Amino acid sequence: MIFAGNRLALTQPAHINELRLLGPPEWGTCMTDAIHYELQGDIAILKAQNPPVNALGHAVRQGLVDGLERAEADNARAILIHGDGSTWFAGADIREFGKPMQEPLLPDVCNRIEASPLLVVGALHGTALGGGLEVALCCHYRIAVPGARVGLPEVMLGILPGAGGTQRLPRLIGVEPAIDIITTARQVGAQEALELGILDRVREGEPRDVGLAFVRALLDDDAPRRPVSEMPAPKPIDFDAMYQTVLKRGRGQIAPAQAVRAVQLACELPFDEGLRREREMFMDLMETDQRQGMIHAFFAERAVSKLPELKAVEPRVVNAIGVIGGGTMGAGIATSALLAGLNVTLVEMSQEAADAARTRIEGNLAGALKRNKITQDRYDTLTQETLALATDYDALKDADLVIEAVFEDMDVKKDVFTKLDAVCKPGAVLATNTSYLDVNEIAAATARPGDVIGLHFFSPAHVMKLLEVVVADRTAPDTVATGFALGKKMGKIAVRAGVCDGFIGNRILATYRTAADHMVLDGASPFQIDKALEDFGFAMGPYAVADLAGLDIGWAMRKRQAPHRDPRERVPSYPDRLCEAGHFGQKTGKGYYIYETGKRGGTPNPEVTGLIEAERAERGITPRDFTDEEIVRRYMAAMVNEAAKVVGEGIARRPLDVDMVLLSGYGFPRYHGGPLKWADLQGLPGLLDDIKSYAREDDHFWQPAPLLERLVEEGRNFDDLNKEAAS
Ligand code: CAA
Repeated sequence: MIFAGNRLALTQPAHINELRLLGPPEWGTCMTDAIHYELQGDIAILKAQNPPVNALGHAVRQGLVDGLERAEADNARAILIHGDGSTWFAGADIREFGKPMQEPLLPDVCNRIEASPLLVVGALHGTALGGGLEVALCCHYRIAVPGARVGLPEVMLGILPGAGGTQRLPRLIGVEPAIDIITTARQVGAQEALELGILDRVREGEPRDVGLAFVRALLDDDAPRRPVSEMPAPKPIDFDAMYQTVLKRGRGQIAPAQAVRAVQLACELPFDEGLRREREMFMDLMETDQRQGMIHAFFAERAVSKLPELKAVEPRVVNAIGVIGGGTMGAGIATSALLAGLNVTLVEMSQEAADAARTRIEGNLAGALKRNKITQDRYDTLTQETLALATDYDALKDADLVIEAVFEDMDVKKDVFTKLDAVCKPGAVLATNTSYLDVNEIAAATARPGDVIGLHFFSPAHVMKLLEVVVADRTAPDTVATGFALGKKMGKIAVRAGVCDGFIGNRILATYRTAADHMVLDGASPFQIDKALEDFGFAMGPYAVADLAGLDIGWAMRKRQAPHRDPRERVPSYPDRLCEAGHFGQKTGKGYYIYETGKRGGTPNPEVTGLIEAERAERGITPRDFTDEEIVRRYMAAMVNEAAKVVGEGIARRPLDVDMVLLSGYGFPRYHGGPLKWADLQGLPGLLDDIKSYAREDDHFWQPAPLLERLVEEGRNFDDLNKEAAS
């Protein structure tokens, strides 16, 4: 029977008796079918059925309250709550955030569950996250199947647990483990949750069956109700120190640090008061740009792979892949493919190079073994059976997909593709990992351009999440679908990109790096720029990143570009001086910063300041001061402007595609949502005004993106384009 039909949302236990006096509710008037009610003897069973993840939307909340009332009216002795489909409640319904909330609110539903006079048991499977765990914490007992995971990941949405999680979890398991779970958003496996005391039991089986057996055992033992809110306040810790640690780790994100303060309330205030204050903090965070940024990132991450043109397109079958080139990138790609369960054949030019590639891949896999990502058995199978090394292209004749990761030179790439065209079986996907080169030109070196695609990985490829799927003019739709399917198998965030110099990410990077270089010429220091951008939330500033990547990379590119450069381009030459002196950054111990062995990070290299001053003098530039705010403003204006060009030209389909590229491949702070979400939150008219004012100094570099101008003119923003694309 589908149950629902409620007249009241109860929040206080005292109301229950009053309601009973009113007689049973009118069960016939169904309002929601999100909770299924069943009475089995003296046990009422509430089954959540709100696919895909049993999110706690309004219908579910209402259904739970209705179910409790019905069970109490039916004179049941206990209530079992479980979820249908793949999971228990995976949390509040995020799509309701930012809209007026409909009663009953989740904290009230939670309190109502806990206050039920009946014994309430939760049987968990899948993921009990956020509000889902908060509901579980209100059950008097919790059992789970072994694969279940629990967590309070609200900080990943820019908020904190707002339905009692910060008050109940520390009461149940202590302050430190609770703060760990809440501030890191990590998902805790069933076994660990049992050891921590979040779960009472872990049993193999169907959640409903194990739950019923547990309820029956509890009833047989006359087990008491056990409301967590009635447990004593947890022991305090040094909250100020913890707050500072978490604040620093958040690099500007406010929710995790606020969550520490919320847990502190659990130690200092009576439960009801703590709950009230937690809700206030939750509502305050709901109003922040950070919440909007994080939720944008959540949905963008899921939207990137949904391309309307691929809806009815089946990807090709890929079991065996070939990789050409076993340097850092090729070895990383091979590692990622092995970990995804694919057979890998890696081709190198000589036996020594092949051996070196094997060593690199084994090293990567040893890292996975050390971090418990794979077992010793799996390591042995992957290295001894699944991976093959070869020095002859013939070894690729059975590969379903081949990724080339050789030297970044058009002639070299074309040669590789001509050879692949000759040996690969019909229908094999031929992919290039180029970062900048024209995929159309590479495809034209084959007689099968429909099978050719760009798969742009980021180094280290077995770690970095981003994969740009570069679609050339003649790439067949099922080749594109195969690229996305491979990305998914490898656990990557795959984003569609069109062909241009640098695709989405590197093209935008080149522009904002240039803006930074201009600021250095005009008076800012690389160290001030790095600091300002780290304060904005980037993990590293652009000059520290350059040191990490190796200054020789930029040097080689500057040399390559010099013959074709527009004379109006302002390109600093002082970094060439560093390279000429053999300073390539971290790998040589010196670059923009000086690195001492055994120490993390570097200290500013004073030689750099001297070189910059000399270049300014040579160019006749009188340096001026930049505030940190101005640095961020210009850097971001350059990023947003180029991103708008990338969207306007169709290189990225939607603004959210750009956001995901920068978030997952370039260290852009997630809580700003990506550069174009950030731009929307700042207001596009102000940004366009900035760009126009910078153009008065340098109208070659600062050319406003036509798309940005159009959006401002029409009073719209980037998110409007995302919505248009989704409809
Ligand atoms: N609300 C609304 N929709 C949700 C959702 C949620 N909490 N969680 C997932 N979805 C949607 C996804 O958007 C996706 O929709 P589409 O198919 O339309 O893209 C669909 O459910 C499936 O999600 P995934 O693709 O992510 O599926 P998965 O199997 O890879 O992962 C998951 C499942 C682990 C539950 C993952 O979706 C996830 O982590 N969800 C978010 C969980 C979360 O953050 N919960 C806390 C919410 S905040 C809260 O509860 C606040 C509070 O205290 C009151």
